[in-house]
Amino acid sequence: MKKKLVVSSGAGISAESGMMTYRDAGGLWDTYPVMEVASAEGFAANPPLIHEFYSNMRKKMTANIKPNAAHLGLVELEKYFDVNIITQNVDDLHERAGSSHVLHLHGELMKMRSMKHPERIYQLPCDQLTDKGLVTTVDTRDPYGDPVRPHIVFFGESVPEFEPAAALVQQADILVVIGTSLVVYPAAALIQYARRETEVYYIDPNPASVPDWVHVIPKKATEGVAELITLLTK
Ligand code: OAD
Repeated sequence: MKKKLVVSSGAGISAESGMMTYRDAGGLWDTYPVMEVASAEGFAANPPLIHEFYSNMRKKMTANIKPNAAHLGLVELEKYFDVNIITQNVDDLHERAGSSHVLHLHGELMKMRSMKHPERIYQLPCDQLTDKGLVTTVDTRDPYGDPVRPHIVFFGESVPEFEPAAALVQQADILVVIGTSLVVYPAAALIQYARRETEVYYIDPNPASVPDWVHVIPKKATEGVAELITLLTK
């Protein structure tokens, strides 16, 4: 039976694809007022601003951005391991790379959901991204006429996928954390769910401080994942 390898990825894994991280210098939260565009209060106060912010991010992602060698390397690891990816990212680069099991902790950019019926979740079609239709209209509505919101976890909201994510980490033989500043909770706490015997790796060119039982690979995601593959498959 293959060993279970769980990945916990953050914005850094998509940086070399051209997605902005949040907290690096010049990152998204330097450019936009975070509590206005990414909080429950911000959305309540100014829905058009939030729709515009995520619409712009979506257009950038679908027009210019492709998975990089780090996303693809994690797909290659599926030959050797039973791989599950937990990502804080709202982009779909793990899916586009071909990863089989991806859990989005903070939601997905390409989905909207009804505000009246949260169980109604809509996948946005790429071909509607550039016109003035569905995703660029500020007061977007679903086919029932109900208003929709980005299917993204705002600050101040609960993280419904945290429990399944923590359960995956508890089962991991190997945990690989990639490209996250480890400042946003509860995502940053996932590492604490690793069992004592789990091997834990952390790939980040500017790593946060972590316990000494974590093997830190202080490199960019593409180089770090290549090194990890060599380490784990030799
Ligand atoms: P951050 O922007 O906080 O951190 C990005 C991390 O990526 C930093 O530790 C960088 O050192 C690292 N990094 C930069 N370039 C890299 C590269 N080429 N390869 C590998 N790592 C690199 O992003 P997150 O930790 O993902 O939430 O942020 C967590 C959450 O905060 C996000 O999911 C988002 C944000 O508010 C929501 O929007 C709900």
